[in-house]
This record gives sequence, structure tokens and C-alpha cells, in this order.
Amino acid sequence: KTLYVLNGPNLNLLGSREPETYGHDTLATIEALCRRTAAELNVELVFLQTNHEGQMIDWIQETRGKAQALVINPAAWTHTSVAIRDAVTAVALPLFEVHITNVHKREPFRHHSYLSDVAHGVICGFGIQGYRYALMQAASLL
Ligand code: DQA
Repeated sequence: KTLYVLNGPNLNLLGSREPETYGHDTLATIEALCRRTAAELNVELVFLQTNHEGQMIDWIQETRGKAQALVINPAAWTHTSVAIRDAVTAVALPLFEVHITNVHKREPFRHHSYLSDVAHGVICGFGIQGYRYALMQAASLL
């Protein structure tokens, strides 16, 4: 069984990016947490990040036939991208949307997500542990 964890724009800067908001953990720390979790759950993990929306759409499409569930932190595309929503609905895999921060206590433009109503579950405000919880929940569906 294979789970994909896909990360959107600017998440490569975690650690130095607005640490008062996102904390000091880097994307490498998140990847290590996800790899540990996947090993515990006995699943294969593909962990990717991109700043390019088309690349993200290609990766979502490629999960077809390769993955059994998808965990995504779409970052800013959460609030802007019909194209990413269309890609995840096209592949029709169980989708888990993760945000490090509690987007609902931030600016109003972060309160709407183009993905939440097509997601199996949404986690926000649990910091990087949200990725772990999403993987656990995804694996429990398999
Ligand atoms: C984020 C929240 C988004 O609003 C923001 O654009 C991000 C990160 C989070 O993980 O808290 O880049 O998805």
C-alpha cells in the first residue's frame, strides 16, 4: 500500500518562514516524521513538495493506480485553486487535507478551502503532528 504526501508552495521554506506562525520545524523534519509514521503503519510513502501548480496537478494525477490515499497540504492553493480541486476529484482517492496552522483563526481569505468539501478529513492547527494523524487515519482506511 502506498500513501502520497504532497506539499504546496513555500512549504520548502518552513523553519525560516514566519516561525512565529509556522514554528521552527523544517520540511525535512516533517518528511522524517512522515517516514517514521509510514514505517510504523507498514505502508510505502511518497513525499513531495513543489512551488509549481502544474507540477502539483501532474503528481495528483499520477497517484492514479499508484496510491491508495492522498494527504495534501496545498498551502496557499487551498484558497485559490479550482484546478487542484478538479485534479483530486478526478483521481477519486480518499483525500486528507492538512494545515499546520489553524487557518480559521487567521485572515478571512484563509477560511475558505476549495478542497475541504471533497476531502475525507481535514486537520488544521495541530502543527506538524497533523501529518502524522492524517497518515494514521489514511492507513486505517486501507
Ligand atoms: C498552510 C495554511 C495556508 O493558509 C498557507 O497559505 C500556507 C500553509 C498551513 O499549513 O497552515 O502556506 O496550509
